[in-house]
Amino acid sequence: MSVTNPFLADNFAPVREETQLEDLRVIGELPRDMNGMFVRVGPNPQFEPIGTYHWFDGDGMLHGVRVRDGKAAYRNRYVQTKGFEIERQRGRAIWSGLMEPPQFDNPDGPFKNAANTALVWHDGRLLALWEGGEPHHIRVPSLETVGPYDYGGKLTSAFTAHPKVDAVTGEMMFFGYAPMPPYLQYSVVAASGELLRTVPIDIPAGVMIHDCAVTEHYTLLLDLPVTFDLQAMTSGGPVLNWNPDNGARIGVIPRHGSNDDVRWFEIPPCYIFHTTNAYEADDEVVLIACRVNSTSVLMDDGQSPAAEQEDQAPRLHRWRFNMKTGAVSEEGLDDVPSEFPRINESLTGRSHRYSYAARVPADVTMPLFDGFQKYDHQTGRVESHPHGPGRYGGEGVFVPRDGASAEDDGWLVTYVYDQTQRAAEMVVVNAQDMTAEPVARVQIPARVPYGFHGAWVAGEYIGA
Ligand SMILES: [Fe+2]
Repeated sequence: MSVTNPFLADNFAPVREETQLEDLRVIGELPRDMNGMFVRVGPNPQFEPIGTYHWFDGDGMLHGVRVRDGKAAYRNRYVQTKGFEIERQRGRAIWSGLMEPPQFDNPDGPFKNAANTALVWHDGRLLALWEGGEPHHIRVPSLETVGPYDYGGKLTSAFTAHPKVDAVTGEMMFFGYAPMPPYLQYSVVAASGELLRTVPIDIPAGVMIHDCAVTEHYTLLLDLPVTFDLQAMTSGGPVLNWNPDNGARIGVIPRHGSNDDVRWFEIPPCYIFHTTNAYEADDEVVLIACRVNSTSVLMDDGQSPAAEQEDQAPRLHRWRFNMKTGAVSEEGLDDVPSEFPRINESLTGRSHRYSYAARVPADVTMPLFDGFQKYDHQTGRVESHPHGPGRYGGEGVFVPRDGASAEDDGWLVTYVYDQTQRAAEMVVVNAQDMTAEPVARVQIPARVPYGFHGAWVAGEYIGA
């Protein structure tokens, strides 16, 4: 008997239609001064997958809600990558995914860049990101794909799904990792959009690196023990392994520095999928991130036994790296598991007071999020905003109010799916009043599958 992969069922199942819906019904009221577009990307396989399907494999699909003058409109579009177009022409899937060996004999390349993971706005351009390849330039508000974006041919590495933009200088820092040397490369893009430099960084083994962090003067590179197994790449079996013997270390490199300038700090083995932020405080570099004891996320199809689920529950932690003494400290900040941390991004790399994360419920094994956690890092206070029974959301993107002076003066925005009503909403929560009902619930009469990361594009940047 065949069992449906749970990542192809319920609200993880892909939608096939690209739709456009105007003047959506709103429960509550959209703030009149909220003007922009919430865009979120996620996996949405165009065709029946080949081999074992992993949630990270599906073709990228963008879901956007344009908000203006108290009204909202929705549209969704596939990211039209080269691989997507080739498969569309042939009418079937050509590439398998993470759980199968790469197709080194495929004339169109061993992997498909799915462009399904995250979005970044930089230099007046929205990019859809996938950490194994180049970004894709996306038009706003149409969500059409312009094409791959390689910085005028200067991009020589893969491109993380989580670059960091310094809102003060406008610079963007990113890295790319690879199973073969150079295992890690680090790059800086100027505010003007020019890729200024790419430097190789020495690490002992090829590792999977999902995120990084920056401070005013440094970039933090995460060498954590999810290692590549090159043999498995050709013979089959998991390509990535949880391998704590490889050690865990955080490299602190001056923003415009090179390999020789990296200061490495050993930490107890763990994995970090997502960082919240980092900043400098006297002699210390402080990192806040969601930490797991171990991970099998990239090694199986998401069907871990319950004991592993607890070991792999992500919890917010803070590390302090003393640049003078080399001392390291690590402390947990919340017993409640949470992931997909975000901040008011005008403070990326600077000391922030508040962060927001998606809350992980105790009673489900799928990656569902049943609310928001708001952290006040000054007082240690944690506030929860539950989405309600049978309702699951995702990453909360912070949208600052125009002209705001307080750090948390704005809204958290996410898509919520109501499992009982089988209905999708874009939920808008007042970030200064987390325990209240959402200020607006935008009803979307189309299914919006669970996905990964989003971005808010301010109205001033959006064309007609
Ligand atoms: Fe991510």
